[in-house]
Amino acid sequence: MPAAIIAGTLMYEVPNMTLVEKIIDTPYGRALVYEVKGAGSEVLFLPRHGLKHDTPPHNINYRANLKALEILGVKRVIAVNAVGSINKEVAPLDLVVLSDYLDFTSGRELSFFDGGDSGVKHVDMSKPYCSYLREKILALAPTYHIRIHPQGVYVCTNGPRLESPAEIRMYDRLGGDVVGMTGLPEVVLAKELDLCYASVAFSINWAAGFMDTIEFTSDKDALKKMQKNLLELLLETIETTTDEECCNE
Ligand code: HPA
Repeated sequence: MPAAIIAGTLMYEVPNMTLVEKIIDTPYGRALVYEVKGAGSEVLFLPRHGLKHDTPPHNINYRANLKALEILGVKRVIAVNAVGSINKEVAPLDLVVLSDYLDFTSGRELSFFDGGDSGVKHVDMSKPYCSYLREKILALAPTYHIRIHPQGVYVCTNGPRLESPAEIRMYDRLGGDVVGMTGLPEVVLAKELDLCYASVAFSINWAAGFMDTIEFTSDKDALKKMQKNLLELLLETIETTTDEECCNE
Protein backbone atom coordinates (compact mmCIF):
# COMPACT_ATOMS: atom_id res chain seq x y z
CA MET A 1 0.00 0.00 0.00
CA PRO A 2 1.23 3.57 -0.58
CA ALA A 3 2.83 5.63 2.15
CA ALA A 4 2.35 9.39 2.41
CA ILE A 5 4.36 12.51 3.06
CA ILE A 6 2.37 15.40 4.46
CA ALA A 7 4.37 18.49 3.70
CA GLY A 8 3.96 22.08 4.71
CA THR A 9 5.66 25.43 4.37
CA LEU A 10 8.54 25.50 1.88
CA MET A 11 7.98 21.94 0.64
CA TYR A 12 5.92 22.25 -2.50
CA GLU A 13 7.81 20.19 -5.00
CA VAL A 14 9.28 16.78 -5.27
CA PRO A 15 12.36 17.36 -7.47
CA ASN A 16 12.82 15.08 -10.52
CA MET A 17 9.45 13.46 -10.00
CA THR A 18 6.04 14.03 -11.51
CA LEU A 19 3.03 14.73 -9.33
CA VAL A 20 -0.36 13.43 -10.47
CA GLU A 21 -3.26 15.19 -8.81
CA LYS A 22 -6.06 13.27 -7.10
CA ILE A 23 -9.08 14.93 -5.55
CA ILE A 24 -10.49 12.75 -2.81
CA ASP A 25 -14.00 13.24 -1.44
CA THR A 26 -14.37 12.37 2.22
CA PRO A 27 -17.26 12.77 4.69
CA TYR A 28 -15.33 15.82 6.00
CA GLY A 29 -14.77 17.55 2.68
CA ARG A 30 -12.36 17.34 -0.23
CA ALA A 31 -8.65 16.71 -0.02
CA LEU A 32 -5.96 17.30 -2.58
CA VAL A 33 -3.40 14.51 -2.78
CA TYR A 34 -0.64 13.88 -5.33
CA GLU A 35 0.66 10.57 -6.51
CA VAL A 36 4.45 10.76 -6.82
CA LYS A 37 5.59 9.17 -10.08
CA GLY A 38 9.21 8.14 -10.22
CA ALA A 39 9.77 7.31 -6.54
CA GLY A 40 11.16 3.85 -5.77
CA SER A 41 7.89 2.84 -4.09
CA GLU A 42 4.28 3.96 -3.97
CA VAL A 43 4.23 7.41 -2.39
CA LEU A 44 1.55 10.05 -1.99
CA PHE A 45 2.30 13.72 -1.34
CA LEU A 46 -0.17 15.88 0.53
CA PRO A 47 0.67 19.61 0.72
CA ARG A 48 -1.39 20.51 3.78
CA HIS A 49 -1.62 24.25 2.93
CA GLY A 50 -2.52 23.53 -0.70
CA LEU A 51 0.06 23.82 -3.49
CA LYS A 52 -0.35 27.61 -3.59
CA HIS A 53 0.03 27.90 0.18
CA ASP A 54 -3.37 29.57 0.40
CA THR A 55 -4.79 27.76 3.44
CA PRO A 56 -3.54 29.08 6.80
CA PRO A 57 -2.85 26.59 9.62
CA HIS A 58 -6.11 27.22 11.52
CA ASN A 59 -8.20 26.65 8.36
CA ILE A 60 -6.55 23.45 7.15
CA ASN A 61 -9.07 20.62 6.87
CA TYR A 62 -6.99 18.15 8.87
CA ARG A 63 -9.83 15.61 9.05
CA ALA A 64 -10.35 15.54 5.26
CA ASN A 65 -6.58 15.22 4.70
CA LEU A 66 -6.15 12.28 7.07
CA LYS A 67 -9.38 10.58 6.00
CA ALA A 68 -8.33 10.87 2.34
CA LEU A 69 -5.08 9.06 3.14
CA GLU A 70 -7.00 6.31 4.91
CA ILE A 71 -9.36 5.99 1.92
CA LEU A 72 -6.31 5.60 -0.34
CA GLY A 73 -5.09 2.70 1.78
CA VAL A 74 -2.22 4.55 3.46
CA LYS A 75 -0.84 3.18 6.73
CA ARG A 76 2.56 4.96 7.01
CA VAL A 77 2.60 8.76 7.14
CA ILE A 78 5.59 11.03 7.59
CA ALA A 79 4.75 14.64 8.25
CA VAL A 80 7.06 17.60 7.81
CA ASN A 81 6.40 20.67 9.95
CA ALA A 82 8.17 24.02 9.72
CA VAL A 83 8.96 25.37 13.18
CA GLY A 84 10.69 28.06 15.15
CA SER A 85 13.37 27.04 17.64
CA ILE A 86 12.71 27.46 21.36
CA ASN A 87 15.56 25.21 22.53
CA LYS A 88 18.97 26.87 22.05
CA GLU A 89 20.43 23.53 20.91
CA VAL A 90 18.12 23.44 17.89
CA ALA A 91 19.47 25.99 15.44
CA PRO A 92 17.56 27.16 12.36
CA LEU A 93 18.00 24.60 9.53
CA ASP A 94 18.19 21.76 12.09
CA LEU A 95 15.71 18.89 11.97
CA VAL A 96 13.95 17.32 14.95
CA VAL A 97 12.28 13.92 14.91
CA LEU A 98 9.38 14.74 17.20
CA SER A 99 8.73 12.63 20.27
CA ASP A 100 5.96 14.54 22.05
CA TYR A 101 3.82 17.66 21.83
CA LEU A 102 1.98 20.37 23.74
CA ASP A 103 -1.33 21.42 22.17
CA PHE A 104 -2.21 25.12 22.45
CA THR A 105 -4.64 25.19 19.52
CA SER A 106 -8.30 26.04 19.87
CA GLY A 107 -11.39 25.97 17.70
CA ARG A 108 -10.10 23.28 15.32
CA GLU A 109 -12.03 20.14 14.37
CA LEU A 110 -10.04 17.78 16.53
CA SER A 111 -11.64 14.32 16.35
CA PHE A 112 -13.36 11.82 14.08
CA PHE A 113 -15.37 10.77 17.13
CA ASP A 114 -17.84 13.55 17.72
CA GLY A 115 -20.54 11.49 19.42
CA GLY A 116 -23.83 10.41 17.82
CA ASP A 117 -23.28 8.02 14.93
CA SER A 118 -19.51 8.62 14.99
CA GLY A 119 -19.28 7.41 18.60
CA VAL A 120 -16.97 8.43 21.41
CA LYS A 121 -13.32 7.45 21.66
CA HIS A 122 -10.62 8.65 24.03
CA VAL A 123 -7.58 7.89 21.97
CA ASP A 124 -4.39 7.04 23.90
CA MET A 125 -1.66 9.60 23.12
CA SER A 126 1.00 8.09 25.41
CA LYS A 127 3.16 7.46 22.33
CA PRO A 128 2.12 10.18 19.87
CA TYR A 129 4.66 9.43 17.14
CA CYS A 130 5.43 6.01 15.60
CA SER A 131 8.67 4.68 17.08
CA TYR A 132 9.30 2.35 14.11
CA LEU A 133 9.33 5.23 11.61
CA ARG A 134 11.24 7.51 14.01
CA GLU A 135 14.01 4.95 14.44
CA LYS A 136 14.24 4.32 10.69
CA ILE A 137 14.51 8.04 9.96
CA LEU A 138 17.26 8.42 12.56
CA ALA A 139 19.16 5.37 11.35
CA LEU A 140 19.19 6.65 7.74
CA ALA A 141 19.84 10.31 8.54
CA PRO A 142 23.69 10.20 8.76
CA THR A 143 23.90 9.42 5.03
CA TYR A 144 22.18 12.70 4.24
CA HIS A 145 24.51 15.05 6.13
CA ILE A 146 21.79 16.88 8.01
CA ARG A 147 21.75 17.95 11.62
CA ILE A 148 18.94 15.96 13.16
CA HIS A 149 17.87 15.77 16.80
CA PRO A 150 16.51 12.37 17.88
CA GLN A 151 13.70 13.77 20.01
CA GLY A 152 11.89 16.98 20.76
CA VAL A 153 8.67 18.42 22.10
CA TYR A 154 6.56 20.28 19.56
CA VAL A 155 4.42 23.17 20.78
CA CYS A 156 1.43 23.80 18.52
CA THR A 157 -0.02 27.30 18.58
CA ASN A 158 -3.17 28.34 16.77
CA GLY A 159 -1.62 30.99 14.57
CA PRO A 160 -1.72 32.54 12.13
CA ARG A 161 0.10 35.12 14.22
CA LEU A 162 3.51 34.36 15.63
CA GLU A 163 4.11 34.27 19.39
CA SER A 164 5.09 36.94 21.89
CA PRO A 165 8.42 36.62 23.75
CA ALA A 166 6.58 35.89 27.02
CA GLU A 167 4.65 33.06 25.36
CA ILE A 168 7.90 31.55 24.12
CA ARG A 169 9.44 31.84 27.63
CA MET A 170 6.37 30.00 28.96
CA TYR A 171 6.63 27.25 26.32
CA ASP A 172 10.33 26.90 27.14
CA ARG A 173 9.54 26.41 30.84
CA LEU A 174 6.89 23.85 29.95
CA GLY A 175 9.46 21.78 28.05
CA GLY A 176 8.80 22.82 24.46
CA ASP A 177 11.73 22.57 22.03
CA VAL A 178 10.15 23.89 18.83
CA VAL A 179 6.99 25.79 17.97
CA GLY A 180 4.74 25.49 14.94
CA MET A 181 1.09 25.78 13.91
CA THR A 182 0.24 22.63 11.97
CA GLY A 183 1.12 19.55 14.02
CA LEU A 184 -2.19 19.44 15.88
CA PRO A 185 -4.73 17.95 15.55
CA GLU A 186 -2.99 16.07 12.71
CA VAL A 187 -1.06 13.73 15.01
CA VAL A 188 -4.22 12.98 17.05
CA LEU A 189 -6.37 12.32 13.98
CA ALA A 190 -3.68 9.99 12.63
CA LYS A 191 -3.77 8.07 15.91
CA GLU A 192 -7.56 7.88 15.80
CA LEU A 193 -7.24 6.23 12.37
CA ASP A 194 -4.52 3.85 13.62
CA LEU A 195 -1.98 5.22 11.16
CA CYS A 196 1.76 4.94 11.74
CA TYR A 197 2.60 8.61 11.91
CA ALA A 198 5.95 10.30 12.45
CA SER A 199 6.86 13.93 12.10
CA VAL A 200 10.10 15.71 11.26
CA ALA A 201 10.17 19.36 12.26
CA PHE A 202 12.54 21.67 10.49
CA SER A 203 13.50 24.94 12.03
CA ILE A 204 13.38 28.07 9.92
CA ASN A 205 13.85 30.70 12.66
CA TRP A 206 14.61 31.40 16.30
CA ALA A 207 11.32 31.81 18.14
CA ALA A 208 10.15 35.23 19.39
CA GLY A 209 12.40 36.89 21.96
CA PHE A 210 15.70 35.47 20.68
CA MET A 211 16.14 38.54 18.49
CA ASP A 212 14.44 41.90 18.06
CA THR A 213 12.11 40.53 15.39
CA ILE A 214 11.51 37.14 13.83
CA GLU A 215 13.99 36.50 11.04
CA PHE A 216 13.24 33.54 8.83
CA THR A 217 16.27 31.78 7.40
CA SER A 218 17.42 33.73 4.37
CA ASP A 219 20.10 31.31 3.23
CA LYS A 220 18.14 30.04 0.23
CA ASP A 221 20.87 27.64 -0.93
CA ALA A 222 21.19 25.98 2.47
CA LEU A 223 17.40 25.74 2.69
CA LYS A 224 17.11 24.16 -0.75
CA LYS A 225 19.85 21.66 0.03
CA MET A 226 18.24 20.75 3.32
CA GLN A 227 14.82 20.29 1.71
CA LYS A 228 16.29 18.06 -0.98
CA ASN A 229 18.17 15.96 1.57
CA LEU A 230 15.14 15.72 3.81
CA LEU A 231 12.91 14.60 0.97
CA GLU A 232 15.42 11.96 -0.11
CA LEU A 233 15.70 10.78 3.48
CA LEU A 234 11.92 10.47 3.76
CA LEU A 235 11.62 8.65 0.42
CA GLU A 236 14.31 6.19 1.50
CA THR A 237 12.54 5.73 4.84
CA ILE A 238 9.37 4.87 2.96
CA GLU A 239 11.21 2.50 0.62
CA THR A 240 12.86 0.62 3.46
CA THR A 241 9.84 0.24 5.73
CA THR A 242 6.66 -1.78 5.38
CA ASP A 243 3.09 -1.46 6.62
CA GLU A 244 3.36 -4.87 8.23
CA GLU A 245 6.40 -4.00 10.36
CA CYS A 246 4.80 -0.85 11.67
CA CYS A 247 3.90 -1.43 15.30
CA ASN A 248 1.87 1.75 15.54
CA GLU A 249 3.37 2.96 18.76
N1 HPA B 1 6.16 30.10 15.50
C1 HPA B 1 5.11 29.38 15.07
N2 HPA B 1 5.12 28.70 13.94
C2 HPA B 1 6.23 28.72 13.19
C3 HPA B 1 7.37 29.46 13.56
C4 HPA B 1 7.33 30.18 14.78
O1 HPA B 1 8.30 30.86 15.19
N3 HPA B 1 8.29 29.28 12.60
C5 HPA B 1 7.74 28.45 11.67
N4 HPA B 1 6.49 28.12 12.03
